[in-house]
Amino acid sequence: MTTTPGSDADEAEAAGAGLDTGYDATPYLPPRGGLPAHRKTVTDCRGCPLFGPATRAVFGDGPATARIVLVGEQPEDQGDRQVAPFVGPAGRLLRKAVEETGLAGEPVYLINAVKHFRFVERGKRRIHEAPSLRKETACQPRLAAEMRLLRPEVVVALGATAGRALFGTSFRVTKERGRPLHLPGYEKARAVATLHPSSVLRSDDRRSAYAGLVADLRVAADPPARTGAARVSPT
Ligand code: URA
Ligand code: SF4
Repeated sequence: MTTTPGSDADEAEAAGAGLDTGYDATPYLPPRGGLPAHRKTVTDCRGCPLFGPATRAVFGDGPATARIVLVGEQPEDQGDRQVAPFVGPAGRLLRKAVEETGLAGEPVYLINAVKHFRFVERGKRRIHEAPSLRKETACQPRLAAEMRLLRPEVVVALGATAGRALFGTSFRVTKERGRPLHLPGYEKARAVATLHPSSVLRSDDRRSAYAGLVADLRVAADPPARTGAARVSPT
């Protein structure tokens, strides 16, 4: 069977044959330096095949001193063209939701778990495809390095991909959303997982999905004393 390099079928075939596809961003990370050094190397990252079809890598955006870091999935079509995270409808919805919480008016750093846009072409349209676990895993060292530099006090995982990238591959956002979580390496940070804003936009009951997103963000916004401070380690 012939498969496209880097496609899910290709990965499944490699996994079935016991082969390691070897996707990993680590060799492309800068040996030293802060966020600007990371931003520079992401452009030339070849850690997985996603760099090929995408226009360019999309790095995080916001003040490096922000206390709050919101972690998304991957750039969307518009973000890939404009080289910025959360510039489309999901980003607008997310900003609106944040403004309804105690995080309103605070500087926020927006970042994606995977830095290149994954899509399938349908005619002239590029349709978003979720990154596979292998590509998520390949890009995870980038997120980990950026988080170490950002040292956030509040961390929100937006959706399943961000949840796995931050809390481990067995993390299930549907099970863990909306409660304070223990984020390994960030013992003092308030960490919460919630829905991805795109899933709110796709929901049949958008009003209640949006209310759920705001409620989860409020858990991240509230001081631990008000949320009970019970931190749960995801299994
Ligand atoms: N735009 C992004 O940059 N990330 C997402 O997760 C969704 C939209
Ligand atoms: Fe590198 Fe991540 Fe882009 Fe893959 S998605 S090429 S690991 S930056």
